[in-house]
Amino acid sequence: MEKNRIVSGIRPTGDLHIGHYLGVLKNWVNLQDDYQCFYFIADWHALTSEYRDPSIIEQSARDMVITWLGVGIDPEKSVIFRQSHIKTHAELFLLLSMITPTSWLERNPTYKEMREELTEKDLSTYGFLGYPVLMATDIVIYHADKVPIGEDQLPHLELTREIVRRFNFIYGDAILTEPKEILTETPRVPGLDGRKMSKSYGNAIFIAETEESLAKKVMQMLTDPKRMTRKDPGEPKDCNLYPFHEYFTDEATRDEIQAGCRSAGLGCVDCKRILIKSLVREFGPVWEKIAYYRGHTSLVDDILNAGFQRATRESDLTMARVRAAMKLAG
Ligand code: TRP
Repeated sequence: MEKNRIVSGIRPTGDLHIGHYLGVLKNWVNLQDDYQCFYFIADWHALTSEYRDPSIIEQSARDMVITWLGVGIDPEKSVIFRQSHIKTHAELFLLLSMITPTSWLERNPTYKEMREELTEKDLSTYGFLGYPVLMATDIVIYHADKVPIGEDQLPHLELTREIVRRFNFIYGDAILTEPKEILTETPRVPGLDGRKMSKSYGNAIFIAETEESLAKKVMQMLTDPKRMTRKDPGEPKDCNLYPFHEYFTDEATRDEIQAGCRSAGLGCVDCKRILIKSLVREFGPVWEKIAYYRGHTSLVDDILNAGFQRATRESDLTMARVRAAMKLAG
């Protein structure tokens, strides 16, 4: 039996960090065995906000694929491609635009929120308003059954379902598939300064660090402010670094760390050294793979090319049906 399908994309607007790793990528890796996954670089989506200076997109698109391969996205299992290579996304976007009421887009809470928050960018564009229609396109063009997303993207998926229902109602049953979400919990990963980890805050630990740069960052991390001196006891719950042990350090060592922190038996520098070790254990193999692909970029091209071929084949099937339904097949 053919596996159920998954589609998901990431906007290439900067380097991927540990927040992405825990919140998105580990999940993507796990889904590969149970689903036929289509993972893509959402470069057109990135343009909706980065249109004034798209150079960041070019840079991060390539690096992003290498990082995906590094963490274990497997081109033998999953289709990996770049959105802008598959021109039919633009065609279907146009066709879905014909039937999407503007009021559905204007009331979208994510749209309203982003326009209010990203005040330094002019997002009063037609392209940005149409963002969810483009996202719907990415999903339905491959007949995705499931879409792994964080909570902030739920309104977009709901819109996708509404567009699908409207399309099928107008043009004929079951031409497009209604997708369901796989809601991924996005853990609140703290950055170096305790605020949420984000590239724009400059507090991120990236997936593709070197051991040296990683160690330097960990050594900068804030710990429990009660531990003014080495002798002051602390509380892991109040420590900005401790959550990382929860993610990356084994349980027995964590118990020792907790006891050592509370009794002041263990100093923050030693605690950080343990974390560095845990992170190197986790990311060492990832770094090796990243270095390999950076040294063999033609392999990355081959992977993207194979993804392009496969995505083209699948999307062409959908487009044939859509064009016929909309009387454009002649
Ligand atoms: N909108 C998503 C985000 O900002 C990225 C994205 C674009 C996406 N198209 C998609 C995610 C299709 C899932 C499926 O994170």
